Amino acid sequence: MPGGASPSDWLQRWAHLLPAGASVLDLACGSGRHLRWLAGRGHRVTGVDRDAAALGPLSALAETVVADLEGGPWPLPGRRFDAVLVTNYLWRPLFPALRAALADGGTLICETFAEGQQAFGRPSRSEFLLRPGELLTLAAGLHVLAYEDGLLEGPRRRVQRLVAIAPPAGARSLVGPPA
Ligand SMILES: C[S@@+](CC[C@H](N)C(=O)[O-])C[C@H]1O[C@@H](n2cnc3c(N)ncnc32)[C@H](O)[C@@H]1O
Repeated sequence: MPGGASPSDWLQRWAHLLPAGASVLDLACGSGRHLRWLAGRGHRVTGVDRDAAALGPLSALAETVVADLEGGPWPLPGRRFDAVLVTNYLWRPLFPALRAALADGGTLICETFAEGQQAFGRPSRSEFLLRPGELLTLAAGLHVLAYEDGLLEGPRRRVQRLVAIAPPAGARSLVGPPA
């Protein structure tokens, strides 16, 4: 795993935003470096991945869902979470579903590879690399607390990462026509 098997420092930096016992969706969770870390902090995690073998050992810690996120229907229709986490995974058609899976006032935490990564290794295909500023489009309508686009070390890699908060229940949009 680029960056190692320990939890992303971005997740660790922002996890204090999650309320105690928060429900967290870890999308494309893989072998669960974040699922394990979050479950250990008392959060109720749902991990989704197509890799059933990777999810198997995680089922004692969390809800696990085996699903092909790119070739099948959205596996969690109607479900909403206090936080949605996506790291080292990009499939653009999922952006609306990710937004819809975020509860009122929920926290979106993302970190994945960006254009420029080609200089350092995989992934190198443009379909798996965020365009400049693209992660901000995922957060349209959310309150962006932090956004970075740059190089990380260990190993060197180019990423965008973002943390954003959904409007609370009943909040009126500050954009659009007056009521
Ligand atoms: C680079 S790993 C990232 C794992 C984890 N998010 C992390 O940062 O440690 C990418 C993950 O995406 C999953 N994945 C790739 N394509 C998928 C698909 N079509 N549906 C579900 N999961 C997929 C892989 O199985 C893999 O676990």
